Amino acid sequence: MMKQYLLSPGPTVIPEQVLLRMAAPIIHHRTPQFSKIFAETRTMLQKLHQTTSDTLMLSCSGTGAMEAAVMNVCTTGDTMIYVNAGKFGERWGNIAAKHHIHAIEIKVTWGDAVTVDAVKAALDAHPQAKAVFVQASETSTTTENPIQAIAALTKDIDCLTVVDAITALGVIDMPMDDWGLDIVISGSQKAFMLPPGLATMGISEKAWAMIESNPDCQTFYFDLLTERKVQQAGKDTTAWTPAISLIVGLNEVLNMMFSEGLDQLYARHTLLAKGTRAGFNALGMKLVSKVPATSATGVFIPETVDGGAFVKYLRDVMGVTFAGGQDDLKNRIIRVAHLGYYDVFDVCNIMSAVEIALNRFGYPVQMGVGVAAAQTVLAERFPKVEA
Ligand SMILES: Cc1ncc(COP(=O)(O)O)c(C=O)c1O
Repeated sequence: MMKQYLLSPGPTVIPEQVLLRMAAPIIHHRTPQFSKIFAETRTMLQKLHQTTSDTLMLSCSGTGAMEAAVMNVCTTGDTMIYVNAGKFGERWGNIAAKHHIHAIEIKVTWGDAVTVDAVKAALDAHPQAKAVFVQASETSTTTENPIQAIAALTKDIDCLTVVDAITALGVIDMPMDDWGLDIVISGSQKAFMLPPGLATMGISEKAWAMIESNPDCQTFYFDLLTERKVQQAGKDTTAWTPAISLIVGLNEVLNMMFSEGLDQLYARHTLLAKGTRAGFNALGMKLVSKVPATSATGVFIPETVDGGAFVKYLRDVMGVTFAGGQDDLKNRIIRVAHLGYYDVFDVCNIMSAVEIALNRFGYPVQMGVGVAAAQTVLAERFPKVEA
């Protein structure tokens, strides 16, 4: 037998109690039974977003919600600004191109975060832009962008800040209303610890007003105004058949998050990220990002090791699934997860697996160095016992 360890930044591990809850017989979505679960889930989702405005649940992966945001805010011929700091940032541009939206790209070197000055310059040059689209956490480079400062730039002008928080919501504190974030998107297979297939959106009053004033929303399935009408309190359902089991699962997940407490949830993720970085640092492995994310860490594989073979060996021979790199970073990096159902011993497993794999590839590594450095940081998670 080979025990499997899923340590990639999505899909992530699903807690047993969530699996059990989703294994219950399916219920019909036009019933009081479903509406009760839906209403509870929506209320908790608003609390997680820290918004009083309406949130939505959509049956699609994160990209569907990204496209829904673009299509509901902009129409053909409109101008938008987007941050391309990696593979997922680039996607805003691809979506815009499909819908003939004039997209102004802010290109950022992979591994860097966008600067607030660059966003300000783009806004000054394109005052007609409907929104700035940006990743809170760019998973391809494991980098965090300064979304609070970007939102401060658009707060008082006729332009939105739309945030892909697919690997940030439930990982870092990002209070929508306080910061002036207008649309915040997430996906089920990340910090929500669910199978893929459900996306969520927090949408500010300012964004709803912009969406209402969009004369020509070019999507039927993803028309957010249609969804808003039925997802509101009192109706408590979805326009089309929803991903029922995933919404039931989300109900369980949000209950878990609130029993942990949001402060503890964010503190746990911060500590796991810190421990992971300490471990890689001790192994002499360089981080991909200059502003490393809280959700996942990317590091360069030593040049003398065949990077493509390394990731496959870990997965197929050792049972440890990390993510590799994309585009320029293909076969050069590994990306490891610490978002969702992960705790300190998962980081120890990550370090231990990397050390063993490096050793098997003939790379000189002193076993235990990365694990020990991580442990030193991670020990903080537990209280000291007085003698
Ligand atoms: C930051 C970010 N944006 C977008 C996506 C795309 O989401 P999905 O694959 O769920 O469509 C991902 C997936 O990894 C992501 O990490």
